[in-house]
Amino acid sequence: MFASSNGSIVVLASRDQARARELLSGYPGARVAESYEALLGDPEVDAVYIPLPNSLHSEWTLRALEAKKHVLCEKPLGVDAREAEEMAAAAERAGRHLMEAFMYRFHPAMRDFVESVREPLHVEASFGFQLKDRNDIRMQAALGGGALLDVGCYAVSVSRWILGEPRGVSARASLENGVDVTTTGLLSFQSGATASVWASFESPEEQELKVVTRREVLRRIRPFSSYRDPHDPYQLMVESFAESVLHDRPVEIPPAESIANMRVLDQIRAAARSS
Ligand SMILES: NC(=O)c1ccc[n+]([C@@H]2O[C@H](COP(=O)([O-])OP(=O)(O)OC[C@H]3O[C@@H](n4cnc5c(N)ncnc54)[C@H](OP(=O)(O)O)[C@@H]3O)[C@@H](O)[C@H]2O)c1
Repeated sequence: MFASSNGSIVVLASRDQARARELLSGYPGARVAESYEALLGDPEVDAVYIPLPNSLHSEWTLRALEAKKHVLCEKPLGVDAREAEEMAAAAERAGRHLMEAFMYRFHPAMRDFVESVREPLHVEASFGFQLKDRNDIRMQAALGGGALLDVGCYAVSVSRWILGEPRGVSARASLENGVDVTTTGLLSFQSGATASVWASFESPEEQELKVVTRREVLRRIRPFSSYRDPHDPYQLMVESFAESVLHDRPVEIPPAESIANMRVLDQIRAAARSS
């Protein structure tokens, strides 16, 4: 965000102002707001980025849109499709842009990879890592925790990017403290293609995308984050969002796409519960 060529950080809000000041120490142009509310009331702020726990995405997006700010909200857009629908409707009413911060979709190598797929038969998408801190927001049900929402949202997103909307979903999950620590889903598509999605807090770092087509097997390692890459998908995402705001053009990931992703996440959760 600091590296963006078409936007700048004007104000940062935190529950802890000292922490916010420390974060901004190298950026003399930016100010610290007294509170999240104060940031939304700041006339110099055109758009807000919401990196709060999942359960707070909806509340603060709705408040930001009421304050007539554009919103770039962390993934997943809400905790379920109903929240995502409310957020999309609020953006429509406010006449402001809303985009889910799915940065991996902005990576040029990912775009090339997906565009290269012809006649897919099966997609396998996995994202797992070892989460040891039981106090992490991801381990708290009340904050919208769980592996499915945290990393499964990527696996579902990329499967839908390649295969479209599934018509059938089955799933299994292991639970701990009321959150899923591992979820596996099987999606089936009208074309006859299938996708398996896997999300976990119990494995070593694991990210892989495999696409089996009629002619070849395509693989991409670390498809969802590529921090040591020449391209910075976060910067590309922020700049793309700012372009939409500045020129009033549709955002690259429209709310309808995020709602569709959340619907599949809801279906996976429901299927795992009833299995
Ligand atoms: N796109 C990506 O690459 C990526 C990577 C990681 C996470 N995420 C997403 O970003 C969001 C935040 O994840 P994170 O890993 O950054 O979490 P985090 O380190 O725990 O940060 C969340 C922040 O939210 C604020 N907050 C407000 N109310 C809170 C509460 N009740 N409990 C805890 N924190 C609260 C806190 O900031 P203050 O105290 O300063 O107000 C806290 O630092 C999630 O939606 C996650 O899915 C995206």
